[in-house]
Amino acid sequence: MGLVSGTGLADFGNQVTCCDIVSEKIDLLKQGEIPIYEPGLKELVDRNVQSGRLSFSSDIESSIRNSEVIFIAVGTPMGANGEADLKAVEAVAKTVAQNLDSYKIICTKSTVPVGTGARLHAIITEHAPQGAEFDIVSNPEFLREGSAVKDFLIPDRVVLGVSSEKAEKIMKDVYRPLFINETPMVITNIPSAEMIKYASNAFLAVKISFINEMANLSDKVGADIHTIAKAMGQDGRISPKFLHPGPGYGGSCFPKDTEALVHTGKKHGVKFQVVAAAIKANHAQRNVILEKAKELLPDMKGKRVAVLGLAFKANTDDVRDTPAYEIIKGLRAAGAEVRAYDPIAAANMKSFFFEDLQTFESVNETVKASDLVIVLTPWNELRGLDLEELKANMASPNVVDARNILSVDQLKALGFNYRNVGRSKV
Ligand code: UGA
Repeated sequence: MGLVSGTGLADFGNQVTCCDIVSEKIDLLKQGEIPIYEPGLKELVDRNVQSGRLSFSSDIESSIRNSEVIFIAVGTPMGANGEADLKAVEAVAKTVAQNLDSYKIICTKSTVPVGTGARLHAIITEHAPQGAEFDIVSNPEFLREGSAVKDFLIPDRVVLGVSSEKAEKIMKDVYRPLFINETPMVITNIPSAEMIKYASNAFLAVKISFINEMANLSDKVGADIHTIAKAMGQDGRISPKFLHPGPGYGGSCFPKDTEALVHTGKKHGVKFQVVAAAIKANHAQRNVILEKAKELLPDMKGKRVAVLGLAFKANTDDVRDTPAYEIIKGLRAAGAEVRAYDPIAAANMKSFFFEDLQTFESVNETVKASDLVIVLTPWNELRGLDLEELKANMASPNVVDARNILSVDQLKALGFNYRNVGRSKV
């Protein structure tokens, strides 16, 4: 998020320095390499470095002194009890305070719980030189991994939580090209901006858990969840987006942000019953997929199961909170020999979760002599799977399509035993 935002801001015409305390990352960037997989990012970085508007530095102090607006884009991982861990954000605020040699805006892009702006104001006031002038701004980001560049350059809206006219004017200037394009701008106070981010992510998470539970019922009664979602989405009040059922949401955002929101609510004596239920349903959804696998292969002992897709979603190498983790764990616990494939996330899966996971370079190798295939990530490559070839490579034709990307008609015609999410009996 930091790299995409910094580069996007440079593309808007601002002079930007991207900083990190991990100097290896900065060194890579200086050599023109991108430390993460994000489509379109390398081209955007190259273009802005060449134009002279974008640079990288691990000298954080002087980068702060040379800037008028400082964006905080560090991680806010899940801490104890589900609350957001703000250690990194607070550490940055302290460093900024110690280098506050002229008026500056300190702007949070990291997802931070409501009240953090006020907390940062207090930290900076405590550590800054007497009488130093500054403003806090909240400017939450709505990037999705895999389409982050497009989301930044063509956003649905820009949210600015400000507490002074001066800060508002400067921030509008930072986003000038979007103003000219008439991108909707929501100018509000800091607590509202902070809450907009959590409200949006939590609502989307609720939508996913909702459609997953609808899909689970559809499987029992012979209904088709795709038709249901489509018809629901034709109601303008609902919208068709984020009504795709699957193995439950993962990634670095929804799981931690929903937990953090419930925690913030508790702190203020407010029950978030709907969001808490969405979290519970999401955990259970991993198990729903495992149960489908067990329906097709009741005794997994010594059986070969191929898992296709390890990333939490397509177009990313990110495996944080990926459904594949719990599902592989469950398959192994049932005695299966698990083989796995992902076009780019296999290395991350091995280094973060299963050092001994057998991964392969192609789908064909992975599925060889397998008794069951589970499709877990909706990569385009998997959407185009040759099902005839798949069947020929397998020992027995059992497929769980946890993303509903394989043609039911073809699966039927080829004589597969299959399960999907919400269309298994259609
Ligand atoms: C999410 C939000 O969509 C972004 O707006 C937000 O900026 C970001 O979190 C963040 O807070 O930084 P991201 O986690 O990258 O973005 O990915 P999404 O596309 O939202 O998908 C999240 C999870 O939900 C994935 O596991 C995906 O497979 C799942 N999903 C999504 C579904 O199961 N069904 C759907 O219909 C949509």
